Amino acid sequence: MSHEVVEKNIGLMVVLVIIVISFGGLAEIVPLYFMKDTTQPVKGLKPYTAMQLEGRDIYIREACNACHSQMIRPFRAETERYGHYSVAGEFVYDHPFLWGSKRTGPDLARVGGRYSDDWHEAHLINPRDVVPESNMPTFGFLAKSELTGEVTGRKMEVLRTLGVPYTDADIAGAAEAVKGKTEMAALIEYLQHLGTAVSIR
Ligand code: HEC
Repeated sequence: MSHEVVEKNIGLMVVLVIIVISFGGLAEIVPLYFMKDTTQPVKGLKPYTAMQLEGRDIYIREACNACHSQMIRPFRAETERYGHYSVAGEFVYDHPFLWGSKRTGPDLARVGGRYSDDWHEAHLINPRDVVPESNMPTFGFLAKSELTGEVTGRKMEVLRTLGVPYTDADIAGAAEAVKGKTEMAALIEYLQHLGTAVSIR
């Protein structure tokens, strides 16, 4: 009988539907606030060094993330090709995340250590020299521009306000660590670091 009352009174039905959907939503959302494994860094995760941080910014500036994802999904085809699937705790110091979804090129989440620095340099200067069928653009110009380090420390300070545990010494030494190095060198240090924080590989 009470069902009939609800069905004949659209106002009441709207209110009841909203209550039911809210419960469903809350049951899914609230536990996420208490799940620490999505917000805690994995063991051994360190903030990016000054060089890696500059390299990461070059990666963003050159839109490498438009062709490369950094997120290995837990599927066999992916883990056999790229290594252990990505876990949330690896990305806690990434602001913003560079997970992406477009894979014109391969995923780079665990490319660190897979090739030598020389390979990366040759590949960035002309991808076709090492992978003949590659359609990746050339980035040789990165070897010609030097970093000044003027704002590297400031970038770290900002990241510290977002919870990245940089020390005062890291910030003080940042400019010195990158000054005079090439953008190419910074980018390669960043690439070589990708996915190396976890021993699951
Ligand atoms: C237009 C798309 C495109 C852009 C932009 C691009 N790449 Fe690529 N990348 C590719 C393709 C396709 C491949 C696969 C062929 C090859 O190895 O060159 C690749 C391969 C790679 C590889 C080798 C990965 C592996 O596991 O073999 C690395 C490292 C890489 N790219 C880094 C970069 C970096 C760093 C940038 C930005 C400076 C960049 N890519 C920009 C398309 C792109």
